[in-house]
Amino acid sequence: MQNTTDFPTKTLKYDPIIYSLETPKYHLLQFDANNRFAGWVFNFGKLKINSINVYNDEQFVGNFIVDGLREDVGGHVPSIAAAKTCGFAFDIKISKTLKKVLFEIVFDDASKEPFFEFDVANAFSQRVYFKKLRQEITAIHKPAGELVYLTQGHYHVEEYQNSIIPGVLNMRQYLEHSGVDLNNIHSLLDFGCGSGRYLVGWHLIAPHIALHGCDLNTTLMSWAQNNLPNQIKCLKNNLIPPLSYPDNQFELIYFISVFTHLSLNLQKIWIQELKRILKVGGYILLTLHGEFYVRNCFWQESDKIEEFLSSGFIKNASDDEGANLCGTYHTPAFVEELFQEFQLVGYFPNGRINQHRTLFQIAQSQDVYVFQYNGNE
Ligand SMILES: C[S@@+](CC[C@H](N)C(=O)[O-])C[C@H]1O[C@@H](n2cnc3c(N)ncnc32)[C@H](O)[C@@H]1O
Repeated sequence: MQNTTDFPTKTLKYDPIIYSLETPKYHLLQFDANNRFAGWVFNFGKLKINSINVYNDEQFVGNFIVDGLREDVGGHVPSIAAAKTCGFAFDIKISKTLKKVLFEIVFDDASKEPFFEFDVANAFSQRVYFKKLRQEITAIHKPAGELVYLTQGHYHVEEYQNSIIPGVLNMRQYLEHSGVDLNNIHSLLDFGCGSGRYLVGWHLIAPHIALHGCDLNTTLMSWAQNNLPNQIKCLKNNLIPPLSYPDNQFELIYFISVFTHLSLNLQKIWIQELKRILKVGGYILLTLHGEFYVRNCFWQESDKIEEFLSSGFIKNASDDEGANLCGTYHTPAFVEELFQEFQLVGYFPNGRINQHRTLFQIAQSQDVYVFQYNGNE
């Protein structure tokens, strides 16, 4: 990957290509038909992304301009003018025999780099299973836009629902790449589960797992308790431990974009509580804001960026702990120290796996970590 940013390069470990493919989700792909490939992408650096080349396997399909108005994205990225017009949308015919759609970025100096691959063969081989999941998910209640906003920052109920299956499949990839055998996971906790979207995903793809969720938000928890399938058990908790679960209950605890909103002090307190309810040999998966987020949020405060790079951690000025406006940021070295009683078994910077960009991420461009708890050695 080329270094396309003008930031100091000594610490440039994050992927400056920030993106989201919004459609088609794998389980909604249509075969022998045109599919709309739509999303957004910008470079968090000097060069602007002009267009995307698309190849069906090795065959060039077309060059598509990246210039769609995306104020929703640009509003979060004030330092990059091109983020306001980073949208793309085009149709591609997907045949049953196609293996992959390959995407390539074209910058405004005409240089190119691979973007991502869309795995058509896998979606085709799973089409019957995906159809079943699609049918099952439509029978499950979905939260209203106002509730979706509380966890996702947008009001699009359909997008929320369509993100569940590919999101949980993305989480499963991180676990599998960390050596977690899902057959050995019998009980999991989604800590900070919001309206329980990923619990719904696990309910559909791994019904053998006893599913628990908790969150401090009363509105979200009461909706989850009243609307999610009965097999999903949700509890409201407080900002500070304890949780009401017994010791050694879970083989997996995950928290998606939760420590990103808690002070360091509370993170340390919660790690001890989560350790208490985790079985020895069990796993923790979490997502955190890494360097890209710091450089974006503090783009006019170089002293904050320096503080982050030297101390490994920074928090923004909000004291509203647990709320989305309260933001915290971690370097990988700091995270390993924070979870020193655990063994790091998986690290996926910006959600990538082995340097490959993943689609339909559990938490937009956040770093994903998987730890195993081996007891007090
Ligand atoms: C950005 S949302 C993510 C929700 C969910 N994990 C998802 O990915 O859809 C963060 C969630 O963490 C919850 N949260 C923050 N601090 C918490 C705490 N101390 N205990 C439980 N939930 C917490 C918030 O109420 C909110 O629902």
